[in-house]
Amino acid sequence: MSRPRVFSGIQPTADSFHLGNYLGALRQWVALQESHDAFYCVVDLHAITLPQDPALLRQRTRIAAAQLLAIGLDPDVSTIFVQSHVPEHAELAWVLGCQTGFGEASRMTQFKDKSAKGGAQQASVGLFTYPVLQAADILLYQTDQVPVGEDQRQHLELSRDLAIRFNHRYGQTFTVPAAYILGGVEKITDLQEPTAKMSKSTSSPQGIIDLLDEPDAIRRKVARAVTDTGSGITEDEAAKPGITNLLRIYSALSGTSIGDLTGRYAGAGYGTFKRELAEVVAAALGPIRERAEKILADEAELDRLLAQGAGRASAVARQTMAEVRERVGFLPAAAVAPR
Ligand code: AMP
Ligand code: TRP
Repeated sequence: MSRPRVFSGIQPTADSFHLGNYLGALRQWVALQESHDAFYCVVDLHAITLPQDPALLRQRTRIAAAQLLAIGLDPDVSTIFVQSHVPEHAELAWVLGCQTGFGEASRMTQFKDKSAKGGAQQASVGLFTYPVLQAADILLYQTDQVPVGEDQRQHLELSRDLAIRFNHRYGQTFTVPAAYILGGVEKITDLQEPTAKMSKSTSSPQGIIDLLDEPDAIRRKVARAVTDTGSGITEDEAAKPGITNLLRIYSALSGTSIGDLTGRYAGAGYGTFKRELAEVVAAALGPIRERAEKILADEAELDRLLAQGAGRASAVARQTMAEVRERVGFLPAAAVAPR
């Protein structure tokens, strides 16, 4: 029995992934590589749906890849690669775009949110077709399951609809992917605004703990995290969103249940709790930061690993794309004589 295939992607649009990305998604990617045939992609084509500085995009792509390796993804076990290294993503996106209704794409809520932020007239056509490219990512690899957060559910539905529609129109071509909505850890919230999601696009730097933060920065941010009026270390999302978020982070990183933590800190002050939490976070992220730094210090080796990943991904992508071309009715290109 071959292992079920998973595919997931993450954008290289920050100088570091943050604790929300790690606990909400990336840590599960690592767990899944043991039981699944995993493909993990740094989605730089998606990144340019919003304006990016070219040099920074290149740097952030390496930083993203280095962090994936640093958290424990094994390039010999999982296929780790950069989206633009496999041109079939863009090619299949075109074909799928021609199967997608304009109205259907117009209903995507993430597009509405993102385009509203910059003013709807400023949004690119690429931002509009972002979910179609995401469907291409997934369908190219005959993916069984897609581990993503709840916010990606609608995009997953579109990927499924497109697979079913294409198979119906042209004959069985794509595996219909299932969403694998990541549970376990709930949403991590902003340290400064504990009712809002920790987010690279909306949180202030003090509200975010980055995977690559130095221990002192972590201590400072945890110490200054907004807590709730009153005292008591208890879980209560409505009345104590700040402490609840810190308890969840503590529990997720230490493996101690929230019940055990509230027992241990019964009667303790916020200060003690935060000081000990800061050490837990620093101890968990320290080795990740150090590994990422080491990986980034040898760009040639990192690029070699990414080329290896792209090679493995390409082998699958080419096969799917050859079938798609045949199904759609594209004339096979005759072999071109070498120049
Ligand atoms: P994004 O930064 O929105 O591109 O998200 C990348 C991945 O991290 C997605 O799978 C999200 O669901 C997950 N993620 C982002 N922010 C959080 C958060 N604050 N808590 C939990 N998961 C998150
Ligand atoms: N849109 C996803 C996000 O914002 C990233 C992504 C791109 C993705 N392509 C994908 C996730 C394919 C899963 C599968 O998190």
